[in-house]
Amino acid sequence: MYQTLLTSIQEGIYIITINRPDKLNALNQQVMRDLEEVLDEIYTNNLIRSAIITGTGPKSFVAGADIGEFVGLNPLEGEALAKKGQDIFFKIENSPKPIVAAVNGFALGGGCELAMSCHFRIASDNAKFGQPEINLGIIPGYGGTQRLTQLIGKGRTLEMIMTGNMIDAPTALQYGLVNHVVPQAELLDKAKAILAIINAKAPLAVAAAITAANAVFDETQNGFATEVRAFGQCFGTEDMKEGTTAFLEKRKPVFKGA
Ligand code: COA
Repeated sequence: MYQTLLTSIQEGIYIITINRPDKLNALNQQVMRDLEEVLDEIYTNNLIRSAIITGTGPKSFVAGADIGEFVGLNPLEGEALAKKGQDIFFKIENSPKPIVAAVNGFALGGGCELAMSCHFRIASDNAKFGQPEINLGIIPGYGGTQRLTQLIGKGRTLEMIMTGNMIDAPTALQYGLVNHVVPQAELLDKAKAILAIINAKAPLAVAAAITAANAVFDETQNGFATEVRAFGQCFGTEDMKEGTTAFLEKRKPVFKGA
């Protein structure tokens, strides 16, 4: 169905595997188009409750944007490329359904940026993160300067971006860039186990949590006001009635997403 992605759905979890093994899953324009399309599917397909993005093979999540496609671009074309990439990654970040990055190896440049646009990240013990664009005479353009600063702070971000050095999985964990580090063989199971817990919760409340947390970094809104609104909206849902009633009746809630 997709030229560069493998997809499967398991118990509401949509597993998306970027599949360009000969190029360490680098993001060329076809991968970006496929990602855009798969996001439409995530947003609209009711069978999908959450998603995992990972890379094919044991070595690389995504080794960056496809450097071959940079050659010969002028400044305006460079801007357009960054804008397009940012728009796609905003669509990941703003997805009402949780999207988790299962980082199975190199997450460099656009690969690190892709992982950071996901709601959280789990890494295999061989994962390596970096923004090596400086080695090409450029900077990150798919949101890396912003999201890396949000996640690990300005000092660590500028050191990574200006040196181009990679960090290993334990360092990424220590920095707060990833939530968990597990042996590679357990990576997908770990992501699935966390999403299985989330998938049992009220979907509208899950979406509200994403909206409110994203508002922290959106200068056009007041995050606390967004939280108030999102909190209030939860009180208009069937699932809120079910959740509170089930608690008081000492039974497990059955949420419907309404
Ligand atoms: N864009 C295009 N092709 C890429 C790529 C990228 N970002 N990253 C890797 N590849 C290709 C290599 O060119 C090579 O292709 P070839 O076999 O046709 O020559 C293939 O993937 C395998 O990579 P290779 O460099 O041989 O593997 P390695 O194990 O020696 O090194 C890396 C792995 C990740 C350290 C190295 O590939 C690398 O530095 N990649 C670029 C990372 C980068 O700068 N990303 C940011 C881009 S903005």
